[in-house]
Amino acid sequence: MTRIYTLVNQKGGVGKTTTSINLGAYLAQLGQRVLVIDLDPQANATSCLGVDKLNVPGGTYEALINGAPASSFILLNEKLKLSLLPSSPALAGAEVELVDELARETRLKKALEPLRGRYDYILIDCPPSLGLLTVNGLVAARDGVIVPVQCEYLALEGLGQLTNTIQRVRSALFPELRVRGVVLTMFDPRTNLSTDVVAEVNRHFPNQVFKSVVPRSVRLAEAPSYGLPISAYAPGSVGAQAYEALAKELLKGDGVKPS
Ligand SMILES: Nc1ncnc2c1ncn2[C@@H]1O[C@H](COP(=O)(O)OP(=O)(O)O)[C@@H](O)[C@H]1O
Ligand SMILES: [Mg+2]
Repeated sequence: MTRIYTLVNQKGGVGKTTTSINLGAYLAQLGQRVLVIDLDPQANATSCLGVDKLNVPGGTYEALINGAPASSFILLNEKLKLSLLPSSPALAGAEVELVDELARETRLKKALEPLRGRYDYILIDCPPSLGLLTVNGLVAARDGVIVPVQCEYLALEGLGQLTNTIQRVRSALFPELRVRGVVLTMFDPRTNLSTDVVAEVNRHFPNQVFKSVVPRSVRLAEAPSYGLPISAYAPGSVGAQAYEALAKELLKGDGVKPS
């Protein structure tokens, strides 16, 4: 069974990409067949996994726009046992090009259908906007969305807009779309602010917040410049421990035994 989750929050810099690749890396380490889909024209997930976005033969753009089989562009990192459908700057055009396409909101969902059964988990990393690419990500989120929220002042700001978009997608396209969980990121145990934000987000999303909170960690910020997930760059760090715990929490909630 393939579970598809979309990482979404229209705010930039909240940890969508960091969570996509590190959660993906730990799910893979725990024996899952994992595919990360880079749906962001900035291609950060692609770069963070050490792939040169300017030199990929194809990726998300081709699968969305040309109807090319996504499988032909998937790159497998043998060491990490992690697969990636890369993005490239061409994806920036997709937002505009999709407007005139038939079934423009369901393109990604369709593109992923042939991949069902080949992976245990597909994680889709969205751009920081609520445009057509993100809507494609939401419609493809068969098993729900995962919302990273940064532990900072005004953390909840903008989440109303996200909730509205989710609601619109539910009424027009995908009634079963659900929120799988909120991940708190960049928690700083030394500040009252972080602790307050955790309480506030838990109040706002009762029973929907993952217990594994990701701390602010220099190692997590450094890892992308080596093209590595934290599991390979600094496996003993607090950030690594948090993402490993998050992966285990997700598996447990999904009723999947790690192998
Ligand atoms: N827990 C963390 N601790 C420290 N830095 C982090 C953490 N999570 C993310 N970052 C850094 O913050 C920046 C934004 O994170 P990113 O995952 O790219 O956000 P988004 O994809 O939502 O725009 C990146 O430079 C990333 O390395
Ligand atoms: Mg990102």
